[in-house]
Amino acid sequence: MKTFLITLAGFLHSLIVAHCSHPDLRTTTYEELENAVEVFSRPNIVYYTELLFDIPRYQLIVGARDYLFRLNLESLRVLEQTHWPSAEQTVKTCMQKGQTEEDCHNFIRVLLMQGDRIFACGTNAFAPECTWRDVNSLSLVHGWVDGLARCPFNPHANSTAIMTSEGDYYIASALDFSSQNHAIYRIMGNGPFLRTVQYDPKWLNEPSFVASYEIGNFTYFFFREIAVEYINCGKVIYSRVGRMCKNDKGGQFILKDNWTTFLKARLNCSIPGSYPFYYNEIQGIHFSEKYDIMYATFTTPDNSIYGSAICAYNMSAIKKSFEGPLKIQSTPKSAWEKQTVTHKHFQCQSPGSAQNLLDSEMYQLVDNAVQPIFSRPVYSLELQRLTFIAVDIIAAKHHGEVHVIYVATVEGELQKLVRMPNSTETCLVEKLKIFPDGKPQKIKMMKILKDTNSLYIGTDEAVIRLPLHRCDRFKTKSDCLHSMDPYCGWNDYQMACAAAPNRNPYISFWEQKPMRCPKPDDPVDGGWSKWSVWLPCSHLKRGSADEGCLCKRRFCNEPSPANGGKPCDGVEIQVTNCTVHGQWTEWSAWSACSQTCGTALKMRRRTCGNPAPKNGGHNCLGPDQEEIFCSTNPPCPAYSKVPIHGHWSEWTSWSECSSPCGGGLQTRERKCNDPAPQYGGSECSGCDQDFRICNNHLCPEHRRSTSWTPWCKVNVTRDGYFQQRFRFTCRANVPEVNDIRISHPKKEERFCLEGSLSCLDSAFINIDGTWSEWSDWSSCSVSCGTGFQYRERACDNPPPSGNGADCKGAPRMERKCELAACNDDEGWDEWTRWSLCDYNQEQHRQRKCRVDIPGTKFCSGSSRETRICVDNDIRVKYQAEESHVLEEDGVHMEHVIVALMGGLLVGLGFGAFGMYLFKQRKIHDLPHLTPRTADANLYMSNSEWKASRPLNESPLKVPQKEATIKRNCNGTLTRNLRTPLYSEESFRS
Ligand SMILES: *[C@@H]1O[C@H](CO)[C@@H](O)[C@H](O)[C@H]1NC(C)=O
Ligand SMILES: *[C@@H]1O[C@H](CO)[C@@H](O)[C@H](O)[C@H]1NC(C)=O
Repeated sequence: MKTFLITLAGFLHSLIVAHCSHPDLRTTTYEELENAVEVFSRPNIVYYTELLFDIPRYQLIVGARDYLFRLNLESLRVLEQTHWPSAEQTVKTCMQKGQTEEDCHNFIRVLLMQGDRIFACGTNAFAPECTWRDVNSLSLVHGWVDGLARCPFNPHANSTAIMTSEGDYYIASALDFSSQNHAIYRIMGNGPFLRTVQYDPKWLNEPSFVASYEIGNFTYFFFREIAVEYINCGKVIYSRVGRMCKNDKGGQFILKDNWTTFLKARLNCSIPGSYPFYYNEIQGIHFSEKYDIMYATFTTPDNSIYGSAICAYNMSAIKKSFEGPLKIQSTPKSAWEKQTVTHKHFQCQSPGSAQNLLDSEMYQLVDNAVQPIFSRPVYSLELQRLTFIAVDIIAAKHHGEVHVIYVATVEGELQKLVRMPNSTETCLVEKLKIFPDGKPQKIKMMKILKDTNSLYIGTDEAVIRLPLHRCDRFKTKSDCLHSMDPYCGWNDYQMACAAAPNRNPYISFWEQKPMRCPKPDDPVDGGWSKWSVWLPCSHLKRGSADEGCLCKRRFCNEPSPANGGKPCDGVEIQVTNCTVHGQWTEWSAWSACSQTCGTALKMRRRTCGNPAPKNGGHNCLGPDQEEIFCSTNPPCPAYSKVPIHGHWSEWTSWSECSSPCGGGLQTRERKCNDPAPQYGGSECSGCDQDFRICNNHLCPEHRRSTSWTPWCKVNVTRDGYFQQRFRFTCRANVPEVNDIRISHPKKEERFCLEGSLSCLDSAFINIDGTWSEWSDWSSCSVSCGTGFQYRERACDNPPPSGNGADCKGAPRMERKCELAACNDDEGWDEWTRWSLCDYNQEQHRQRKCRVDIPGTKFCSGSSRETRICVDNDIRVKYQAEESHVLEEDGVHMEHVIVALMGGLLVGLGFGAFGMYLFKQRKIHDLPHLTPRTADANLYMSNSEWKASRPLNESPLKVPQKEATIKRNCNGTLTRNLRTPLYSEESFRS
């Protein structure tokens, strides 16, 4: 295995491009930074020079050539992009005046904020223009302002502008087309508009402004200019800090519209010695207001050997210079002299007196240069030119204050320096290559923002946000602690190099060493590079050609161990995904036989999983299953039939309904044949037929009438006799009119003269009614004890006819009847059963007297009883209808004659009429027949019906007709269906 890996390593070495190694941890490559920085850029948009932080809205406002942007402060995501180009005509004019096309654009050179307004000025193709814009919407322009004296014409002018807290706007720049007219201008705001004296080199001599600050009662301007006080041959540039009082009101006759409090001092940044080495040209400055300290970068002149230095100045040193003696050159040819003058007005106390104005005109220069801390640069370096500078002052574990200085070089490199506390030493802790090798960009602006712990860099092509620290680049504790990066320490909990938790460096589990400059000859522990991607190690012949593995590799070169540092810990190469050919597992044991007798099989299995094929390996060859016959099985016993239990088939569909209305039946069937019981299996349980009621709605009503009966003589009077005839009308709710088989009588009456054949409708005859004979007394209402009996007569002998008078007197007479005491039944046997109906539709029963000689005491009463047949299965009720009554006056029908007819009753006409007469007689003859309900009364005349019916009885209710259907199922009665066939209310509504 070991040899294999070594071979592999050798192979990989040849595969992977040689990796540059950096023994010095202090250099960060572009590739390392690439993932740590945020970059904003837009194609064809260049010159990102102005950066303005708007922390309340968490945005960064950017001025570029012809564009303004609002970006998210952290991600640099675009919130807004506003195009602000120069008009075509302006560009044309610009070019006609000899400017290059490149410069004839609108370069944003002023970007300031006042409240929620942005004051932005652009060179506008050498016709500067300013705008007030909304901080939430840059495209929203609140006002346009002439850019003259407010904005440089030349996009390359080194200018600075400031908006003071009072709202005064200062611009320091060349403010004309040809960049001759340099000035520090106060224009706009509350104070009068003032400027430095024009074309007077003692005030400003071709200055290049670097920065301006509002500090206390003053506005400070940092710049470099040709030194007027240097009177040897040639010209020398000095760095300056100039200031004026914010409350300067300007002169009156002298210094009208000019500053009266302007003074400037030389900024000294030099390596002291008998021949001091001066870094005369200020390039960048950072003022830390909280610590009252300024850090500035200086360079040697362009035409000398490159060298740069950083000098730090306390505010107190600056103040001290301005409070010291001044410098004056009495005549242009004379030398500069030191003058001690009282210059209270230069300290912003009561400026403006005549004497003050004369002083202000004479003196612009203070005698003492501002001296840096330690009277020497805090850092200097050769062959490099520093430009921008930003300083972060932080607390470290062992120091209350560590100054971290970021400087940019003209070449586009960034350096992170730490000024060691309590020492004059400043050392480089990191060199950051923020641009790809060979593609440097010009850094146009650099600003630091504590809120996001970031540096913001504006270049020709992009805006870049760079975090102030990236502690995770130190992989080992030793590297972390030796890095001397004051942001970074070893977090014992996370076992990682990290920034102080919650910005508190004093937490115990966060380790840091006292700051000292990192020494390049410190032992450097090796650190792993990133793993390479997985590559096939296909050159490793490990058998057949289709086998192989994937390999990845890393190198111990980030950093390589140096100066006795530890080598990297862990493996350099990882191998994975090697081809694996499948191998069979062992065969399983034989299974049990498939049955216990006769011919049977047993089986065994194996799988291709020992190992399973992977990464293109072969599958196993051969079967994964084997079967053999069981040789030891006894023969099976004789075959016997297994009983099969019957099972019902599906039901057939329902048959057609047996009746279209009034309730019919439907049936369905099933058979016990799915399967049929066999070999002694059980029958299906349950019925093979099923019923349900259908078409249960009422049938329509049908009527049917018979023909009239022949006339019958009914009442003989003195003069003649009455005849009546009848016909029957049936109506019923039946499906078919032919289903109606019987009818009820309809009466018609006429009067005929005796001996004459002429008869008249009785309605036309006036005959007084005459009583018939009294009937016989009815039998006593009781069979023993006291009852009553009655007799009746009818006003029908003849009945009143036409206008004839009714009979006078009662139609009925009652009297008491006294029978033997109620032990009549004594002596009698039980009644026999009622006989079957005879041809008269009557039933009879009898009883026998057990006593030989019946007397009053024993066996009183009848030995026979007769009644009309009442036990029909189906009774249909009909109604006698006096059709002429209904038709003539619409009164409620007076009479209902109920007919109850059996299925046998087919005959109509005479038969029915005869029966009516017969019954009429019979009712009177049968003392025991008490009509219980109207339907028991078969045929009665109107008066009979009236008399027999209790007066308070409710309108006739016709009982429901019922049919009982009995099905025999499997030989037993299992089902009774009772269904109302139809019901009918009385016709009395
Ligand atoms: C502005 O300053 C840069 C260096 O900081 C210099 O190269 C350039 O010439 C200056 N521009 C002008 C117009 O003086
Ligand atoms: C500013 O000037 C006023 C007088 O004009 C003076 O009272 C005050 O102390 C000065 N402030 C500073 C910080 O010098």
